[in-house]
Amino acid sequence: MTRATCTAHPNIALVKYWGKADAALNLPATGSLSMTLDVFPTVTTVTVDDALARDEFVLGGEPQSGVPAERVTRFLDLVRAQAGSAAHARVESRNDVPSAAGLASSASGFAALAGAAAAAYGLDLDPTALSRLARRGSGSASRSVFPGFALWRTGDDAHSVAEPVRAPDMAMVIAIVDRAQKPVSSREAMRRTRETSPYYPAWVSSTAETLEAAIAACAEGDLERLGALAETNAMRMHAAIQACDPPIRYLTATSVALFDRVAALRAHGVRAWATADAGPNVVAMCHPDDVAAVRQGLGPLAELVVARPGPGLALHADADG
Ligand code: PMV
Repeated sequence: MTRATCTAHPNIALVKYWGKADAALNLPATGSLSMTLDVFPTVTTVTVDDALARDEFVLGGEPQSGVPAERVTRFLDLVRAQAGSAAHARVESRNDVPSAAGLASSASGFAALAGAAAAAYGLDLDPTALSRLARRGSGSASRSVFPGFALWRTGDDAHSVAEPVRAPDMAMVIAIVDRAQKPVSSREAMRRTRETSPYYPAWVSSTAETLEAAIAACAEGDLERLGALAETNAMRMHAAIQACDPPIRYLTATSVALFDRVAALRAHGVRAWATADAGPNVVAMCHPDDVAAVRQGLGPLAELVVARPGPGLALHADADG
């Protein structure tokens, strides 16, 4: 029996990944840029056990079956192929993040699984190889391998990996609008956007330009430019999603009110911009000195959690043989 435990944190994209160039390999249509958070960790233990007849997946103490269990087994199949092993594994994972509510739990989940499974199956992977592996589970997981800010590039299987980048210091005030499971998974919604949204080509071409501008803003330490680019990019992603057939709308009335409130704060000199992933929760990106003002402004509308740039993937010392 070999066992390894790994911790990973979610990330929030400033320039979003929305659309695949290759669904099997999870290659993105555009590059993306994110901040790994210091809140909502996932802790995952993988135990490789020759005595197991099949993989087991326990999430938050609950044995899983169906789609979640199949995704874990498909992911472990990739690790087994690399490691030349046929042994099954027990995966025990705890998520300190509201599952599937657009708070990117798949990012921390597959990053932690990549780290723990690779170590438990005896693979010695560097962060780039772990990012490539994590990407196969969930695209955004490729970025959670790295601390702070990460850039995930397009490319083929070998080259589409994340890397750390320097960016202006930032805080994120996460407004939790709804903890419920989102109605349409990001995988299905991405497929539908690509196949049915007339705005998808414009989303892809504009995001490629936005990413270049965001990389330049990072290099210049220009928080105001980066924040403005990120808010526009989020609105464009949601516009493309809403134009699907049948339509998908992740933002609720409260989400829209939060975007408005962030804009009102900005009109009063608060350095804050809003974004939202594939769910109703809104994240205010702000200057670290403006956290109190943002909290005060958004507090009446939603439960708030403040995040700062967080750590990358961490393997725990309890790996044994
Ligand atoms: O990695 P996935 O398949 O969970 O997709 C993530 C999609 C967004 O969170 C909406 C955007 C992003 O870049 O994280």
